[in-house]
Amino acid sequence: MSVIIKSDREIEYMREAGKILAIVHDELEKFLKPGISTFDIDKKAYDIIKSYDCIPSFLNYNGYPASVCVSVNEQVVHGIPNKKTFLKDGDIVSLDAGVIYKGYHSDAARTWAIGEITEEAKKLIEVTKESFFVGIKYAKAGNHLYEISSAIQEYVESFGFSIVRDLVGHGIGANLHEEPQIPNFRQKRRGLKLEPGMTLAIEPMVNAGRYDVYWEDDDWTVVTEDGSLSAHYENTILITDGEPEILTIRKEEK
Ligand code: MF3
Ligand code: CO
Repeated sequence: MSVIIKSDREIEYMREAGKILAIVHDELEKFLKPGISTFDIDKKAYDIIKSYDCIPSFLNYNGYPASVCVSVNEQVVHGIPNKKTFLKDGDIVSLDAGVIYKGYHSDAARTWAIGEITEEAKKLIEVTKESFFVGIKYAKAGNHLYEISSAIQEYVESFGFSIVRDLVGHGIGANLHEEPQIPNFRQKRRGLKLEPGMTLAIEPMVNAGRYDVYWEDDDWTVVTEDGSLSAHYENTILITDGEPEILTIRKEEK
């Protein structure tokens, strides 16, 4: 399989999938507070996605048992919602979700603060989000894919944080994961040439400490090796003739 250029019709469906996912994240942000369980978050996510006649794409994907990945503090990604984990003041929580609208996917992640968090945690969340925007400055037709990768890494490391190496972004469309893979760190080659109609999920995962991670025994939950905090920020974007279009963000949002 190679990189798929989307038709105008496919792009319309992905725009709608993206718009709905932006609303899902908005609603979930409002729902978060100390005392709720990660299971409650998943139930809420499922209900919102269904209310827009969409399918939660993560549910049963390779056996993943929930509609949203909820990763708290040193969990990097793919935390499994459960009835025993409760959010508490000072936590940071990454929510990663995807929806399918008329057969087309969107994928986006946000990291939120619960109550009062440390200055380091605030900086980590901010730098992770900003690294996405620094990266997509290079997401233009004619540029090469790994220019995005290097830009993200350089930005993140300039703050003393590190970029996770074991997980990467990806193409997206009629499937959640399509070619190409999109690392958030420097590559030896320059990667494929970007063309209008490519749709990509760019998703920096940033650790406050070292970049090493391990998988818990559930084979999903990815955790920092050194126990440091980790943040995640992701949007689905469309390569155009000009600036990239961010499909999973409300217009008013940055
Ligand atoms: N956004 C995640 C990714 O691109 C999707 C997680 S797959 C799931 O890797 F199965 F965990 F849902
Ligand atoms: Co993704």
